[in-house]
Amino acid sequence: MCGIVGYIGDRPAAGLLLEGLKRLEYRGYDSSGVALLDDRITCYKRVGRIANLAGIVPHGLTQTVGIAHTRWATHGGVSDANAHPHLSRNKKFAIVHNGIIENYIYLKNMLAKAGFAFSSQTDSEVIAHLLEKNYEESQTHDFEEAFNTTLRMLEGTYGLVAMSADHPDCLMVARKGSPLVLGIGSNEMFVASDVSAFLGHTDSVVYLDDYEIAKVTSSSFQTKDFRNEPTEKAVSKIEWQPDSLDLNGFPHYMLKEIFEQPESIERGFAGRIVETMGTTKLGGLNLTPAELFNIKRVCIIACGTSYHAGLVGAYIIEELARIPTRVEVASEYKSKNPIIEAGTLYFAVSQSGETIDTLLSMREIQRKGGKVLGICNVVGSTIPRESDGGVYVHSGPEIAVASTKAFTSQLIVLTLFAVMMARMKDMSLNTGKRLISDIKKIPECIRNILGHAAHIESIAGKLKDAKYFMFLGRGISYPVALEGALKLKEVSYILSEGIPAGEIKHGPIALIDKTTPVIFIIPKDDQFDKTLSNMQEVRSRGGIIITIHTECPADSADYDKLKSLSDYMICVPAIDPSLTPLLTIIPLQLLSYYIARDRGCDIDKPRNLAKSVTVE
Ligand code: M6R
Repeated sequence: MCGIVGYIGDRPAAGLLLEGLKRLEYRGYDSSGVALLDDRITCYKRVGRIANLAGIVPHGLTQTVGIAHTRWATHGGVSDANAHPHLSRNKKFAIVHNGIIENYIYLKNMLAKAGFAFSSQTDSEVIAHLLEKNYEESQTHDFEEAFNTTLRMLEGTYGLVAMSADHPDCLMVARKGSPLVLGIGSNEMFVASDVSAFLGHTDSVVYLDDYEIAKVTSSSFQTKDFRNEPTEKAVSKIEWQPDSLDLNGFPHYMLKEIFEQPESIERGFAGRIVETMGTTKLGGLNLTPAELFNIKRVCIIACGTSYHAGLVGAYIIEELARIPTRVEVASEYKSKNPIIEAGTLYFAVSQSGETIDTLLSMREIQRKGGKVLGICNVVGSTIPRESDGGVYVHSGPEIAVASTKAFTSQLIVLTLFAVMMARMKDMSLNTGKRLISDIKKIPECIRNILGHAAHIESIAGKLKDAKYFMFLGRGISYPVALEGALKLKEVSYILSEGIPAGEIKHGPIALIDKTTPVIFIIPKDDQFDKTLSNMQEVRSRGGIIITIHTECPADSADYDKLKSLSDYMICVPAIDPSLTPLLTIIPLQLLSYYIARDRGCDIDKPRNLAKSVTVE
């Protein structure tokens, strides 16, 4: 939450900072600001989108040092005053901050007694005033020393960048709980919450760790830990191409990312299939075959869409590999003093790799001696760096706040894991080969579904004014129902619920009348007939039935049954039942997108949300 960009170099900073903010806007978009430094600090801030800020920053500014921020409000409402950067009383220090300063009330009272007046309601502003106070009170007037003293007074979490009018040759940077990465250019340096901010300007990056401080000049950086000991940093190369952040002709990132799924899924399994053995290999797990063989249970921890991917993954792992698997919502898991069992393999699943609840759960498991593997998309993010091994899903940058391609990439990786484990246990070579062959067909199957987007668009047009949607599925299709409901509610603001189809008669059926769209996810599997009965029940109450079903011949009895009970039908190609979520989710993503578009919603940046949730 919140995006930070800093620049120090030989080019005018304002345009680079605004470009970086635009790329980080998905992290928060309540307000934004930029502070530029020459012999003094000039600051511009605006409520709303980066475009509003860009409208007030004059063209032709020549300062070559600056910091910028896009905000997702925590402490203090959405206002120009609460936007970052925050300046110290004498306007000689400016800071941008991502995180929460937990002792800010104490610090604010202390500073107020010392004569500092506050111009915002944020927790972050105390940092700027503390910098001034510590600097003025020190004998040496050393920016770095004042920065270190200030850090020692802060309790809470931060990704923090500060600059000083008296020391225009450096930026001071600190990380504790909120990600920061340095971009190493030639005669220029970037600091940002993630690499997308400076993609296209440099591909050399240094990921800061928690409890690390960096002093960054235009040509160098020095890092040390909070005990003042220098730290060794490796320079990594970014894989993402700068044009992967473009819309490439699509009106929204969400639609672009839905349409990217054939390729993103292919990247997820590329190089990980051993065809002749009917199995898969996941090199990053850092586990020997014997260690894998001895896994007794799996536990998957995640939030939101990644949690839903985990739920589908659990079905697949249990079904194929017969390993008991449970899935935990990270925000709950970390607060319940979890029991960590020997023989359990833990997975932290996260697109961003920064979700704080998932990260804290992972640390708690590790603290208790458990082994946690990451399944993440963003390379170099905190979860993969702190995990005991893991697998990147290689979706490429996901910009839309609503997660789509990351979900299917996470599913493919969990499926590869399930196949690998199953083949180590009692799955036959032939079954393994058949599954692998179906996995390889998925990109083409998705292309086929995307080819029928116009049909889904027309259904969306008919349903867009509904007040409430119910999503129903059984077995492996139940988490698909949950994910379909989450997608619709977050982008269209329509109340939507995912419910196990067999549960409706225990209460939810009371909600159904002739205005209620009820979406059934009903692939041809061992739940098909029971789900048909639930369709009957909904039909009898007048609900509008939309079925997502797998292909069956138009003259078959199954087709007749589906048709007689459906108002709208959306067909996906037939595939192995354990792989159907990879296909049935696609129409639901498209339906959500088109409904939100027809309702005029801000699809890529839904209200109140942020892409990367780094506060508890
Ligand atoms: O980056 P993560 O996968 O850890 O994020 C988890 C959730 O915040 C995320 O999936 C969220 O639910 C999305 N907005 C859903 O589209």
